[in-house]
Amino acid sequence: MKIHVLQKEVIDFAKGLLNEMIAEKLDVENPSFDPSNPICIADLGCSVGPNTFYAVNNIIEAIELKYKSNPQTPSFHVFFNDHTTNDFNTLFKTLPTNRKYFAAGVAGSFHRRLFPNSTLHFVHCSAALHWLSEVPKELKDRNSLAWNKGSVLHTSPVKEVREAYSAQFRKDMEEFLSGRAQELVRGGLMVLIVQGLPDGVLLSETTVGMGFCVLASCLDDMAKTGVVSAEKVDSFNLPFYHPSSKELRALIETNGYFHVERIEKLSTPWRHETPDLQLVGMHLRAVIGGLIEEHFGDEILDDLFQRHIKKLGESAFIYDEKYRKEANYFVFLKRKGVVSAEKVDSFNLPFYHPSSKELRALIETNGYFHVERIEKLSTPWRHETPDLQLVGMHLRAVIGGLIEEHFGDEILDDLFQRHIKKLGESAFIYDEKYRKEANYFVFLKRKVA
Ligand SMILES: C[S@@+](CC[C@H](N)C(=O)[O-])C[C@H]1O[C@@H](n2cnc3c(N)ncnc32)[C@H](O)[C@@H]1O
Repeated sequence: MKIHVLQKEVIDFAKGLLNEMIAEKLDVENPSFDPSNPICIADLGCSVGPNTFYAVNNIIEAIELKYKSNPQTPSFHVFFNDHTTNDFNTLFKTLPTNRKYFAAGVAGSFHRRLFPNSTLHFVHCSAALHWLSEVPKELKDRNSLAWNKGSVLHTSPVKEVREAYSAQFRKDMEEFLSGRAQELVRGGLMVLIVQGLPDGVLLSETTVGMGFCVLASCLDDMAKTGVVSAEKVDSFNLPFYHPSSKELRALIETNGYFHVERIEKLSTPWRHETPDLQLVGMHLRAVIGGLIEEHFGDEILDDLFQRHIKKLGESAFIYDEKYRKEANYFVFLKRKGVVSAEKVDSFNLPFYHPSSKELRALIETNGYFHVERIEKLSTPWRHETPDLQLVGMHLRAVIGGLIEEHFGDEILDDLFQRHIKKLGESAFIYDEKYRKEANYFVFLKRKVA
């Protein structure tokens, strides 16, 4: 099976969950999702296709379904992102001709900001987040406890090596999540498909981890026969990290910008198939060939990958299903700013609107004043059609501070936009018969005794 075919299967398995979660979590009442504006989708780490086209198509179909009962369906703008070195020409040449979206490319690392504030509605990122922005420096430092001599990944029994990899992943994810948090609208959605490990399982206990140990031993053999220098081998490490679902959840929660709506391990039926070693070799070469070439030069590529396939074929683990424990996690996140039910339940405004009878009664009970006059003031504007923008501005000026104090400032725009929108759709706001509020003029005189 070709590399992109395997990953396409993962995207296919995620499709059911994607439909379910979009149906449940996309809020078409959220003004940011108003169908008169385009829905902006970004696929981060898109590569050259075609998987990105399937993923984008799945997302658009699920969103369209959500707007089915709406008189208007939105248009879609899709941004394809990958490193500047990605072959965007191939991607744009092979864009599906029957696509239902406008397409644009955005080149650069997703560990940085890629889009202006609040411009995306949906972010997708599959099989890319395990790529670290860099190899942790201490892995190459002979004087560090995390010196990763003899390994090329976090397969080493040395805990400092795993910690260095895990710390780099945490840092990268923090940048990734914080960047996306600025770019997504409030209530915006994000799907991550992350290559990881089951909780409590080490990479060295899996087929993938053992396969990389075999690769490290091939490099070691080549160093012993002088094909490559030992120093070059000792300083080579791959920039990949495979987190557990617990780790993923913890770091998303620590980041704090997103609600974790779902984390689920996707099914991987190919784990029951006997691996085709030629394909495994091709797959690995497609993924790490560039990194090997960059570090050792291209002259070792054929030799290294041939040795690797040979050694894999001689290893019992590669045929043993029990080691195929790697996990693909489906992670569905929603940008916070849409508030918790608990917060809503505990929010009340400190206002009260008395009747004139109530006012009179309590002044009289107090006893210090003569009530000289209580009169309802005329409110000629009750006959005017309300200007909803003004109503909104007025309300925000009055209660904005209280809302901010209770919910935080990030919900203010969203809340008041929703409010104006809903008011505009309500019949009562245009119906004079409900404008019964009274402004009372109360004139009191201090009693003499
Ligand atoms: C294995 S491919 C996945 C392609 C596609 N998303 C899929 O699921 O089939 C991983 C892609 O992520 C890209 N990638 C890795 N790190 C990235 C980063 N920091 N910024 C943007 N793209 C990145 C790689 O260049 C590569 O094209």
